[in-house]
Amino acid sequence: MIRARIAAGLAGCVALVVMGVSTFALAKDAPIKELMGENFAGLQTILISLITSDYAAVPKQANAIHEHAVELSQMAPEGPSADRKQFLSYAYNLDAHARDIESIVKLLIQHDKDREKVSLGTDHLREALAAHYGGMVTMCVACHNRFRQRVVQ
Ligand code: HEC
Repeated sequence: MIRARIAAGLAGCVALVVMGVSTFALAKDAPIKELMGENFAGLQTILISLITSDYAAVPKQANAIHEHAVELSQMAPEGPSADRKQFLSYAYNLDAHARDIESIVKLLIQHDKDREKVSLGTDHLREALAAHYGGMVTMCVACHNRFRQRVVQ
């Protein structure tokens, strides 16, 4: 029952997020906004998976964020400036977290197929996953605060 309630709550969040993302999609004119809207949707899907320990949807979303991070790194400000280095380090860090999430989650999916096994043995991996999720969000916020034009709406 609690699970059902959590699921209903999460479904509500997803609906809000989808609405938010479509607003971005309508307003978008630069390709970077497209990548970003998809990143945002991916984060929500990954969060739901982490909370429910149901990881099937994660590899695809983590891979999308990884690909966007690579594309972002190609949009860094030109020149040997400190700005360029910082932008790149945020993009690369986002990429590293996304890739670690993808590889950890693949192990967990494999592990969880065997219900006979005691799951406690991999619980630390579930927590490592959450830490990488936090790392991704930190990079979103760090890069936005420094490089997005309109910081406060
Ligand atoms: C390396 C820098 C960088 C990283 C990391 C980054 N973003 Fe962005 N993001 C930008 C920039 C620059 C813009 C502004 C694009 C524009 O105005 O054309 C932006 C815009 C956005 C937007 C559009 C709405 C807005 O407020 O402008 C969303 C949504 C978004 N990012 C989500 C994310 C999410 C989610 C993550 C993390 C998974 C993330 N971003 C990581 C640089 C980054």
